[in-house]
Amino acid sequence: MTARAWADTVPIEPYLLVIFGATGDLTRRKLLPSYYRLLRRRNFADVGKVLGVATRDLTDAEYRKLATEALVNAGIDGDEAARWCEEHLAYQPVAAGFGALAERIREIEGDGGLVGNRVFYLALPPTVFGDTVEGLGSVGLHRSSGWTRLVVEKPFGRDLESAKRLNGLIHRWFDESQIFRIDHYLGKETVQNLLAFRFANTLFESVWNRDRVEAVQITVAESLGIEGRAAYFEKAGIIRDIVQNHALQVLSLVAMEAPVRLEASSIRDEKVKVLRAIYPLAADRVVRGRYTRGRIDDVTVSGYLEEEGVAADSTTETYAALRFEIDNWRWKGVPFVVRAGKRLPRKLTQVAVSFHEPPVCLFDTDEACQVHANVLYITLQPDEGFDLAFDVKQPGEGFVLRTRTLHFRYADVFGELPGAYETLLADILCGDQTLFVRADEVEEAWRILAPVLDLPEAPEDYPAGSWGPPSADRLTGGSGWLVP
Ligand code: BG6
Repeated sequence: MTARAWADTVPIEPYLLVIFGATGDLTRRKLLPSYYRLLRRRNFADVGKVLGVATRDLTDAEYRKLATEALVNAGIDGDEAARWCEEHLAYQPVAAGFGALAERIREIEGDGGLVGNRVFYLALPPTVFGDTVEGLGSVGLHRSSGWTRLVVEKPFGRDLESAKRLNGLIHRWFDESQIFRIDHYLGKETVQNLLAFRFANTLFESVWNRDRVEAVQITVAESLGIEGRAAYFEKAGIIRDIVQNHALQVLSLVAMEAPVRLEASSIRDEKVKVLRAIYPLAADRVVRGRYTRGRIDDVTVSGYLEEEGVAADSTTETYAALRFEIDNWRWKGVPFVVRAGKRLPRKLTQVAVSFHEPPVCLFDTDEACQVHANVLYITLQPDEGFDLAFDVKQPGEGFVLRTRTLHFRYADVFGELPGAYETLLADILCGDQTLFVRADEVEEAWRILAPVLDLPEAPEDYPAGSWGPPSADRLTGGSGWLVP
């Protein structure tokens, strides 16, 4: 079977999905609604049960009520949601201990005729990952008569050392083949499409190298601020929150060689080779910023230091621009510039690939050469699609050039795209690890960023609603930021 063929062909075996952090924000806003929608999809059999585990002391009935509310808030019909929760959901307080959890699991499996296939989903703060994995292992829940899978949310560690420790701890009990590390960007259709775009089309692949490409820019911009998450964000900053995972995953997919086959280990092997070819980032290759009070969409928003829970002497960055170089035959000398930030003018996740300008300018005017580099913009979200910018002669006398673009928009052809969590949950249940991050990828990403984590200086200010500190422009090497 090729990767992802499951959608139409693989029957899902009965299983138990155990969600740790079952009352938390992630479970209520994303996991439960995405899981429910997945089950309503064509061909996806509703053969699982869900056991919620959390610190709150709830009964099964109370948990079902909470879960029903979460589904209703996500736009799902209340009666249907209540019926489904009644039939599928149970709850176990974490305080009862792991022995009692194991007991409860066996009881649910016995009653439901389940065969011991289990997913343990850690929708938890990273501080308790370790104890939870240890707890599972200590009562033998890392193995069963069926398959057992462990799902871990980001952040995976906070630097290379902690990520290695966490990998070591998990590997004491679980094999890498059982571990599904989530980076929800990999579940986005447009991110997966980077593989199709590159390896199903010879047109672009043949120019996808240092001979033709001048620079690559990756933007992960958000107009949102930290959304009340100061406790987390103060310790993370944008480099840990976005660059270490989402941005470097996108970069790997843009830069990797073609995999031998479309399956998890071949694809992950090629991605990790890209990361291995990047030197740890020198501090002068990074510009860090922090938003001050400003306006977005005609609304005034507070500066980072004014957000509740942010320390007055905070040095956490809410913006970073970083210039990476990939030291391999395909990319040597081509800058890959990443910028990521909160409180930028709009949400935009985009890869821009600019090609060399023609070596000779035939179309110069008195002032300047009119020719512009061709740029391919791959917009991952929102308004998903591609734009290819090229120069064209304006009709009329002489040679006046204009830059125009060819467009493709997903929405025009495919309608609404499935949510990332639906895709990822489906793959977890089918055991396809292609869209999950392997231990070595996580560690390589931390290695590259090690020198620029926790820099002591305060970041440069930028007003909310701007594109970040102007000094970041120097990292683009004179070409400026590429925007269609
Ligand atoms: C999360 C970050 O991983 O990704 C958030 O922790 C960020 O800070 C979010 O807002 C962005 O995800 P998306 O899918 O909206 O681009």
